[in-house]
Amino acid sequence: MNNSSKPLNILIMAAGLGTRMKSKRAKVLHELGGSPLIAHVVRAGQALDPRSIVVVVGHQAEEVEQAVLAQVGKLASFAVQAKQRGTGDAVESARSVLENSDSLVLVLSGDVPMIKVETLKNLIEHHNNAGAACTILSVRLENPTHYGRIIRDDNDSFQKIVEERDASDEQRKVKEINSGIYCFESGELFRALRKVEPANDQGEYYLTDVPGIILSSGEKVSVYLHSDAREVYGVNTRAELAEFENLVRRAAIRKLMIESGVTFIDPSHAYVSAEAEVGRDTIIHPNVTIEGKSIIGEGCVIRAGVRITNSRLGDGVVVKDHSVIVDSEVGANCSVGPFAHLRMNALLEEKAAVGNFVEVKKSRLKRGTKAMHLTYLGDATIGERTNIGAGTVTCNFDGKNKHETIIEDDVKVGSDTMLVAPVRVGARSVTGAGSVVTKDVPPDSLVAGVPAEVKKKLK
Ligand code: UD1
Ligand code: CA
Repeated sequence: MNNSSKPLNILIMAAGLGTRMKSKRAKVLHELGGSPLIAHVVRAGQALDPRSIVVVVGHQAEEVEQAVLAQVGKLASFAVQAKQRGTGDAVESARSVLENSDSLVLVLSGDVPMIKVETLKNLIEHHNNAGAACTILSVRLENPTHYGRIIRDDNDSFQKIVEERDASDEQRKVKEINSGIYCFESGELFRALRKVEPANDQGEYYLTDVPGIILSSGEKVSVYLHSDAREVYGVNTRAELAEFENLVRRAAIRKLMIESGVTFIDPSHAYVSAEAEVGRDTIIHPNVTIEGKSIIGEGCVIRAGVRITNSRLGDGVVVKDHSVIVDSEVGANCSVGPFAHLRMNALLEEKAAVGNFVEVKKSRLKRGTKAMHLTYLGDATIGERTNIGAGTVTCNFDGKNKHETIIEDDVKVGSDTMLVAPVRVGARSVTGAGSVVTKDVPPDSLVAGVPAEVKKKLK
């Protein structure tokens, strides 16, 4: 029998709380490499191009659903398992969606985040070639404690899975373990599931009983023994989570060094998400964090202590020490920091510069514009080649609403100018030091004072 023509559905079990995490948050929501555990599993599933991904949710169902939808949108649907009565019961919750699908059901666990797409493909291929009704992904572990063991007969064929707490001393010596990842023919899976009894130490419905039941009904059960055990490690405690974090981070950084030509001054003290892209010849100093889907151009220099989250930097950008850039965009050859803060769609166009203690929120600085010291720019649009003096503040909030400031091209804003929004400063104008600008400044004018008045026309 070759099943390869059947459609593929993926079922992810993610209803449990994860008691050993000692957390109020559902385990699958804890983050690894900047995204929730469940997102890693869903991403691996998505890469197999399945017909659907069904996620079994229970604890914090709404948050888990959100995390899944953010990753794969409509490809996902959800089955609610109101009470967590075991992994068999988790699959049971999806019966109405999958029972009559005549498909291959790939079962994954929401807490096994390191599984590689390649391995899942090999599992499916093995399953199809074997013509099995069920194939279990197994690995051998030096220390198999806590895992279910694969019990084989004298011919080395699969017999059953026994959970650690139900195992005899002899069975506990077995080092081949159940990864919790399986391929099933949908019909056989749901037929066998009806026969599962909670006759075990925990009184739960175990999915691990299903392969044995399928076998005794005369169908073929196969085991695919995989060589890289690390891929199927489940996250059960925060200590394990931290170990994985380290593994994921090291892999992401290594890939950037080897494949993308990025220099890390100290790779063991850099934190880069697996989704981030960094261009060649960019130099990353110690204690830099690059989170989410950030994209950094070529030939940039990112100095120590910088955090960049979901942002895009062009080529040749210099970000000096301890700057924070969140949800923002920085054009080619800009300079940012030290100690600058860009957030909420701040946009610096080419060759713009912001310096020490400058915060830019939801504002656009066009080509070559500079704000070098102690400044707040919020809800502002600033033209080209404008200079913003030290201590300038856009007073954008009147206590109720936010208002916009517009500064046109080639303006010189004097030190300590307060721009009381809504307000516009015309092209080539100058504001004197300490001006409080409460009404629009026409082009080519010098204003000064409190409130600022036109003192002189410049043309
Ligand atoms: C399970 C397997 C074990 C295997 C191990 C691999 C069973 C009985 N045991 O044990 O053989 O070696 O995985 O990691 O299946 N879940 C639900 N609803 C429930 C119970 C669990 O959705 O009622 C979800 C959990 O959220 C988790 C996954 O199923 O994502 C696995 O459950 P868990 O309790 O962690 O099983 P293990 O004890 O690790
Ligand atoms: Ca587990």
